[in-house]
Amino acid sequence: MNFDTISVIGLGYIGLPTAAVIASRRKKVIGVDINQYAVDTINRGDIHIVEPELDMIVHAAVKEGYLRATIEPEPADAFLIAVPTPFKAENGNQHVPDLTYIKAASKAIAPVLKQGDLVILESTSPVGATEQMAAWLAEARPDLSFPQTRGEDSDIRVAHCPERVLPGHVVRELVANDRVIGGMTAKCSKAATALYGIFVQGECITTTARTAEMAKLTENSFRDVNIAFANELSIICDKLDINVWELIRLANRHPRVNILQPGPGVGGHCIAVDPWFIVSETPDEARLIRTAREVNDGKPQWVVDKVNEAVGKFLSANPDKTAKDVTIACFGLAFKPDIDDLRESPALSIATKLVHDSPGKMLMVEPHIIGLPTQLQKQGARLALIEEALGQADVAVLLVDHREFKSINLAKGLVVVDTRGIWE
Ligand SMILES: NC(=O)c1ccc[n+]([C@@H]2O[C@H](COP(=O)([O-])OP(=O)(O)OC[C@H]3O[C@@H](n4cnc5c(N)ncnc54)[C@H](O)[C@@H]3O)[C@@H](O)[C@H]2O)c1
Repeated sequence: MNFDTISVIGLGYIGLPTAAVIASRRKKVIGVDINQYAVDTINRGDIHIVEPELDMIVHAAVKEGYLRATIEPEPADAFLIAVPTPFKAENGNQHVPDLTYIKAASKAIAPVLKQGDLVILESTSPVGATEQMAAWLAEARPDLSFPQTRGEDSDIRVAHCPERVLPGHVVRELVANDRVIGGMTAKCSKAATALYGIFVQGECITTTARTAEMAKLTENSFRDVNIAFANELSIICDKLDINVWELIRLANRHPRVNILQPGPGVGGHCIAVDPWFIVSETPDEARLIRTAREVNDGKPQWVVDKVNEAVGKFLSANPDKTAKDVTIACFGLAFKPDIDDLRESPALSIATKLVHDSPGKMLMVEPHIIGLPTQLQKQGARLALIEEALGQADVAVLLVDHREFKSINLAKGLVVVDTRGIWE
């Protein structure tokens, strides 16, 4: 199977590293994105996202002529779609997946498809999304045949291959991780396996498209349910005056127990989102998965309440001061350690609530960003360096266990709320 030209649709945190790694294998890659800024940045050999090592690979791929970005799709032998799959805006509270980006990407590539092409959906998707994508493609190109009607003999092959890389380690994991490859037919799986063979050193395991979709959702739901258990324990332990970090260390001495660590909630683009894709399709059956989401989604408000308690504690120890005199420093805004990604971040939502509620000075320490999100700036929060925040804070709130925060020496008398147990 020959893939002389490969097109990656959506050049974000997943699509750009994928495009660059394939281009580094000396394949011609056409990256497509609707964001002109992203396209221009990439064509200069630069990157518009933060991911270790990615800048060098993109720079080399563009300079050597293997990677080019464009707004308009062009003909290729394989298309990898890595566009967002958020919730529907109008149904925000019901957590219904929004497939309009996949639909738009399908409609955009349909005119350039030709017999023998392979289309792979990499976006995290609810079960059935790959079949839906194939239906949109077929609707736009009645002159071509697709697996849903022509099976193994189809002109176009279609597969779902979910991405499971860890932000911050994407370049290594893209190559090293095993891949689940869910073709709509066995031939589709075979074609997709050949494509990933270009750059994946992990094992490629084939299955159906629906199972591949569910596999990705299951992986993240497993993580979410287990984190919810740890988060629930942290709330129970707080009430019972037990140190949850010590408790978990002790319980994990049991040979068959492995409890995860609690935190300020669960964020990011995946774990906090994907379980809802199962719940929205099977609301009556996915009871544990839904409860885990609710436990994890409730944790940020619990942390806000703890910070308010800490402020109260500071004020009772300093009766000459009022709430207006209290400086709160939040350490970390990203959704996980050592990255710049603030999307769906529980730390950001806690900081935003605190800034909204607290009349005193609010300092934000986030070493991975150069400017605060607008809503925080508008409300008067300031981005501060570690030393500055430590020098001024009355209450320090540890929200993300970034490497930089682990060696901090806390002044005596500083009131601390530590959601990750690193300042214990
Ligand atoms: N970020 C992660 O760590 C991660 C991990 C695994 C899976 N995923 C999944 O991968 C998918 C992509 O996530 P991401 O983090 O790369 O998102 P992202 O927002 O970083 O990037 C998506 C890109 O797609 C572009 N885009 C949107 N519509 C388009 C269209 N019609 N045509 C071309 N480009 C279009 C956007 O401009 C953006 O640059 C999502 O389904 C996500 O759930 C993400």
